[in-house]
Amino acid sequence: MSDAPAPFRVGLLGHGTVGSAVDLLLPERADAIAHVTGLRPEVTGVLTTSRGDFDEILASSDLIVEVMGGIHPAHEYVTRAIEAGKHVVTANKQLLAEHGEELWALAREHRVQLRFEAAVAGVVPVIRVLQESLTGQHIDRLHGIVNGTTNFILSQMAATGASYAEALKEAQDLGYAEADPTDDVSGKDAAAKMAILARLAFDTPVHLSDVPFEGIEHLTTEDIAYARELGLSLRLIGTAERIGDELAVRVHPAFLYAGHPLSSVDGPFNAVTIESPAITEITLSGPGAGGPQTATAVIGDVISAMIPPAQTPPTQNKLGFVADVESSFYLHVEVADRPGVLAQIAQVLGLQGVSVKSVVQKGTGTGARLVLVVHPVLESRFYGAVQLIASKDFVTATPRAIRVIDEEFAS
Ligand code: HSE
Repeated sequence: MSDAPAPFRVGLLGHGTVGSAVDLLLPERADAIAHVTGLRPEVTGVLTTSRGDFDEILASSDLIVEVMGGIHPAHEYVTRAIEAGKHVVTANKQLLAEHGEELWALAREHRVQLRFEAAVAGVVPVIRVLQESLTGQHIDRLHGIVNGTTNFILSQMAATGASYAEALKEAQDLGYAEADPTDDVSGKDAAAKMAILARLAFDTPVHLSDVPFEGIEHLTTEDIAYARELGLSLRLIGTAERIGDELAVRVHPAFLYAGHPLSSVDGPFNAVTIESPAITEITLSGPGAGGPQTATAVIGDVISAMIPPAQTPPTQNKLGFVADVESSFYLHVEVADRPGVLAQIAQVLGLQGVSVKSVVQKGTGTGARLVLVVHPVLESRFYGAVQLIASKDFVTATPRAIRVIDEEFAS
């Protein structure tokens, strides 16, 4: 009788950057995985747009890895795999942010695993930490840099003074950004990832449509340079927080003070901070994109599926979503340089209940530029004040506002 470990058959849907890396890495690590699990994984079929047959792959697999991306036909394939009693590992954040509840319920019904570590923050094991390690804790808030492309662009703008367009081109040349980087730069990719994280952290359904998002397309190197004088660095931040009995999940550019753990996360890296009263704050960081990096997370999930059981349980809560949250803001206003202008701006802010934390003023030759940071205030009040300021005759360009995360953990 042979002692050779029994095979564990993996069907691979998609053979792009991540799929081809899984196809390469899984055989390389098969012996090591067999040593741990007693089963030897092997890729038994690959589906691409030009080769492979889904039904044949399904019939000859114990587990399906879905790394094709997009909603269709990934949704149909994942559904059929689960219904056929196969475990599924997916890196598809858009699919889970739109159809997660339905697919997790289907997986529970068919007693198979649907694992998705690679869908959020690449190889950073944030899903595992939320689902397993921190289940014993009440989580108050998450902040995440969950899109590597935009973090690379903003880091480059700060480090080299490159414009947004130049930094985007560099991200594309280096292979960080997609050929069509719309979902990256608009914040939609990060919003899908935050929906998944919020669902796990707060045990309540969160759909992509519950996550308002704002991108980085409108940001300028000038904003970054002024903010640096105020001790701030600019990042695309996803936030998910419990406010009373409700939840706020959103993605937008935000300035961070140097003491915030995310302020030093540079380049294509991702990081997530998890705040909880008992643990204060933990930060997980690492490569958020890339073939071998994301494939490592996929293979970690394959190994977990080989050693059952782990399930995404039904949610216990049904939290509502907060419509108006408090934020601190950076405000950039171009004004005519004449007596009383600063006083009038201060008056408008004061009447709206907006309190100024710091100010930088510079002459621009013909006029002046005011850059203020204000203390946290309801966003509706702040934008009301900005509208009033914009209507003043001494304001010479549309004011620009960016949120500031007014929180530092360094002692
Ligand atoms: N386009 C994504 C990013 C890849 O830049 O983070 C991983 O989802």
